[in-house]
Amino acid sequence: GAPVEMDISGMQPGEMRTVEWRGKPVWVVRRTPEMLASLAKLEGDLADPKSERNPKDLTPAYAQNQHRSIKPEYLVAVGICSHLGCSPITKFETGAQPSLPDNWTGGFLCPCHGSTFDLAGRVFKNKPAPDNLEVPPHMYVSDTKLIIG
Ligand code: FES
Repeated sequence: GAPVEMDISGMQPGEMRTVEWRGKPVWVVRRTPEMLASLAKLEGDLADPKSERNPKDLTPAYAQNQHRSIKPEYLVAVGICSHLGCSPITKFETGAQPSLPDNWTGGFLCPCHGSTFDLAGRVFKNKPAPDNLEVPPHMYVSDTKLIIG
């Protein structure tokens, strides 16, 4: 499949957009400072906090960091659950809710079997999904232009 170009100018903090790449949904989220700060507190609750598993398929070298991205503000991730391939839904609101971890700070919830992911697409422990969400190959060709693929 061909690379997909995306203009991210005008994205507001907390906004998420979806583009299709190779038939898969790719999410781009502009994270707020609070969302980014939450990532530091979750390490102990995550199955692979440093994205060390299968980096070739899941996490390019430039995204092997806590925020799993090139620019800390922007998450770029494939919106397909690593368990059986359902599409997780966004759960950006914070606070305890049924089926969410007690220390939930927002992220993604898979409706099929309840796997949860943080705002960097990192999977929480003790959930059916084994791996973090895939960060697709991507690059910025300007401040506002993103190429996926
Ligand atoms: Fe997502 Fe099973 S497909 S938890």
